[in-house]
Amino acid sequence: MTGRLMMSGELLLEGIDLAHAAPRRIGTLIAHEGQVLEAEGLDQPLGTNVRIATSQGDSVRGEVVGFHGRRSLIQSFDNDAPFASGAAVTPIGQGGLVACGHGLLGRVIDAHGAPLDGRPPVSTRYTWPLAGKRSNPLNRGRVVTPFDVGVRAIDALLTMGEGQRVALVAGSGVGKSVLMGQMLAGVDCDVVVIGLIGERAREVSDFVETKLDARLRPRSVVVAVPADHPPLLRIRAAMRATAIAEFFRHEGKRVFLMIDSLTRVAHAQREIGLALGEPPTMKGYPPSALALIPRLVERAGADRDTGGSITAVYTVLADGGDNDDPVVDSARAIVDGHFILSRHLAEQGVYPAIDIARSLSRTMVDVIDEEHLAAAARFRQLWAAYE
Ligand SMILES: Nc1ncnc2c1ncn2[C@@H]1O[C@H](COP(=O)(O)OP(=O)(O)OP(=O)(O)O)[C@@H](O)[C@H]1O
Ligand SMILES: [Mg+2]
Repeated sequence: MTGRLMMSGELLLEGIDLAHAAPRRIGTLIAHEGQVLEAEGLDQPLGTNVRIATSQGDSVRGEVVGFHGRRSLIQSFDNDAPFASGAAVTPIGQGGLVACGHGLLGRVIDAHGAPLDGRPPVSTRYTWPLAGKRSNPLNRGRVVTPFDVGVRAIDALLTMGEGQRVALVAGSGVGKSVLMGQMLAGVDCDVVVIGLIGERAREVSDFVETKLDARLRPRSVVVAVPADHPPLLRIRAAMRATAIAEFFRHEGKRVFLMIDSLTRVAHAQREIGLALGEPPTMKGYPPSALALIPRLVERAGADRDTGGSITAVYTVLADGGDNDDPVVDSARAIVDGHFILSRHLAEQGVYPAIDIARSLSRTMVDVIDEEHLAAAARFRQLWAAYE
């Protein structure tokens, strides 16, 4: 009899996840200033996801991004929600893992990994840390194999290599997004991961419908967060796209990662940094905004252990053609090549408007033969003379 009771007791407990059933501290919302919420009594580490009750009876998610003494600073994923003082702030675990797997291929997802394509939730079997895994620099493979993108100006004069990171720098409306689409149309790789961050919502649907053809669709993952979403989500989306690319590289795949645009990611971190009270040290950018760029870009590259690689292109907006912009500088210092588009050429209808003289692929010499190199150098001389 007792034995049977025990048995049924165990059966009852089976469905309960004891690891998460421990008592939790629930915090109280005490302040809301601009972009940052403050909660008391939460005492959770940085990066914790929380659920904040709103005055409408539902709740909004957010993340702990800092603290002052015992007060936690929280960024919400929906800044327009009707928050009220005294609302409950419930921790819901660490937010640092990205669901990954082959179920992602062919899908369009948002910063949380939820589907945007109107299809059922993505089924995945693996996870990958949102912030990536720290690796030994000596495990980074060298860039020695050419990487074809099918754009003649690039393949011939600015040859890319597998595992190279490139910044595509231009003012607004000069043709960055169109050039990215052209590269996608001609690229030779196993998996394409595209992060559309801070773009216009119209451009996101346009991109998915026109740039991803039937050949590319089954091999691609799109992570999209339009410009009107809170800054934390824009950063999350860039990190999620990078984490997904890392997952496929870990499987030995040749991945092509595109982030459009890196500038909007830096802007998002600028909003967060300033809201948290960081000083704007470089033309309005707090240090954390510029520090984010190498943290993101350094995650791409070739992996010696698995033979996989992430070849990455980041678009960078050079405001008003000003190439001394801190984001342009930080990006250019960390990537292995920068392609600069010229408004002057675009105005003449020369597309893609790549300014050959000012653009550079630092790994080009390692991936092409002498003859090609000599021909490219000759072309540059002739072009400079023509100019
Ligand atoms: N290769 C091309 N052939 C023809 N037209 C082009 C080409 N590239 C760009 N354009 C023209 O330039 C316009 C702007 O291009 P695009 O949207 O790529 O700019 P962008 O640099 O991404 O701008 P933003 O900074 O606003 O995102 C296009 O709508 C198109 O009219
Ligand atoms: Mg664009």
